[in-house]
Amino acid sequence: MEPRTETLDLAALAGGHLTPVLGRYFERSWSHGVGHRLYDTAGRAYLDFANGIAVTALGHAHPAVSAAIHAQVDRLIGPTGAIGYSEPVVRLVARLAATLPEPIDSIFLLNSGSETIDGAIKLARRVTGRPAIIAFQGGFHGRTYGAASITSSSPNYRLGYEPMLPSIYFAQYPAVWRDFDGDEGRATETCLARLRSMLGSIVPAASVAAIVIEPVLGEGGYLPAPAAFLRGLRAICDEHGILLVADEVQAGYGRTGRMWAFEHAGIVPDVVCIAKAIANGLPLSAIATSRAVQERWGKGAHGSTYGGNPVACAAALAVLDTLERGSLVANAAARGAELSAGLARLAAEDERIGDVRGPGLMVGVEFVSDRASKRPDGALVDRLVARSADLGLLVLSCGPEHQVVRWIPPLDVSAAEVSEALEIFGEALRTV
Ligand SMILES: Cc1ncc(COP(=O)(O)O)c(C=O)c1O
Repeated sequence: MEPRTETLDLAALAGGHLTPVLGRYFERSWSHGVGHRLYDTAGRAYLDFANGIAVTALGHAHPAVSAAIHAQVDRLIGPTGAIGYSEPVVRLVARLAATLPEPIDSIFLLNSGSETIDGAIKLARRVTGRPAIIAFQGGFHGRTYGAASITSSSPNYRLGYEPMLPSIYFAQYPAVWRDFDGDEGRATETCLARLRSMLGSIVPAASVAAIVIEPVLGEGGYLPAPAAFLRGLRAICDEHGILLVADEVQAGYGRTGRMWAFEHAGIVPDVVCIAKAIANGLPLSAIATSRAVQERWGKGAHGSTYGGNPVACAAALAVLDTLERGSLVANAAARGAELSAGLARLAAEDERIGDVRGPGLMVGVEFVSDRASKRPDGALVDRLVARSADLGLLVLSCGPEHQVVRWIPPLDVSAAEVSEALEIFGEALRTV
C-alpha cells in the first residue's frame, strides 16, 4: 500500500476536540514513517532523530517489527496475563532476562515507563517494610501519581497536585559541568557526602526503601552520572539494606552504547525499570529484579490488565532479534562517538554551546547566553529545534529551561545519516 501523502492540517481536522493539555514539540501533521524518515502530510521527509522521544529506536515501519506485529495480530491479540500464558510473553521474558546481569532474572510486564516507577515504589515499600523513597533533583520518572511524586525536572509536573506521595526525599544529582565545572571527582564526593548527611539527619537510612536514579538524567538535561557516583550509591544501598532502582526507561536498551546505562559503572541495581524502546513504539514496559525480590513482593501484590500484551511482546522479540543480529548496541557506541565528535567540532566554533555530553546515542548539547555565566538559553534552543525541523531534521530539547538539544537518533543510524544531521544542525546554528 502506498503511504498517504496528501496535504492535511490534522490539528484543524480535530476541530478543537483534541485536549489542550498535551504539550507538543511540533505543530506539524505527520502522515507516515519509513526507516529513519518521518513524512508530513505534504509529503516532505524529515530525518527523525527524535524517535517519539527515544521510543522508535529502530526507526519507522521496521520490516522485522512490522512482520512480527502482523503475524501476532492474526494469531492472538490479548488475553490478559492473569488468564494464562501466551508464547510471545514467555519467550520475551526469557530473552529480556538474558540481557540483564545476574541476579536479575524476573520480569514484570506493564505498559508504560510511569507504571514501572509506580510498581517499583510499591515493590520497594512492601519488600523492605520501609516508607521512604529517595530520588534526585531534576529527575523525570513520569506522570502517574507515584512517578510524578519523585519527579522534579519541572514545576509543571507537580503544580497543583500536592499532596503527593508522602516520604519522598530529593538528593542532589551530580550535574558535573553546571555545578562542578566539569570535575567528576568533586561532583561525586560532594553529592555522596550530601546524601550521607541526609541519611544521618533528614531521613534515617533505616527508613529508606529505595533510591531511584536515572543513570543518565534524561528530561532533566541529558546528564550522565559519574560511574564513581553510581558505585557510591550501590555501596550506600548495600550498607543500609536499601533497594537501588535504575530508571532505564530512556537511557536503557542500547542507547548509551551498552545494553543498560548502569553497566558503564559496573554496578548491578536491585530493580531495573524498562520501557520506551522495548517494543519500538507499542506500549510495553518491564520491572526487572531478582526472583527472590519478586517472591518477597508476593503473589497478587501487583497486576495489570494490558501489561505484557502478546502483540507488544512479539514486537519486542523482533526488536531484540534486530539489536542482536545487527550488533546495534555496538553501532550506538560507534555512531555516538562520531556524533559527539561532530558536535564538539561545532561547539569549538560556537560560543553559545556550553557543553556537549553523554554516552553513545544519548547526547546533550547545552546552550548558554555566555560561557562564563553559564546562563541557560532555552529561547535559542527553541529556535534551533524549529529551524532544524524547517531544514529537515527532527531533534528535541530537554533541561529545566529547555536549554539542551537532545540527540536520540535511532540505534541503527548510519554514519552517513549522522553526517547529514550534523550538516543540517550546523546550518541551523548559522542561520537561527
Ligand atoms: C527516565 C524516564 N522515566 C520514566 C518515564 C515515563 O515514561 P512514560 O511516559 O512511558 O510513562 C520517562 C518518559 O519520558 C523517562 O524518560
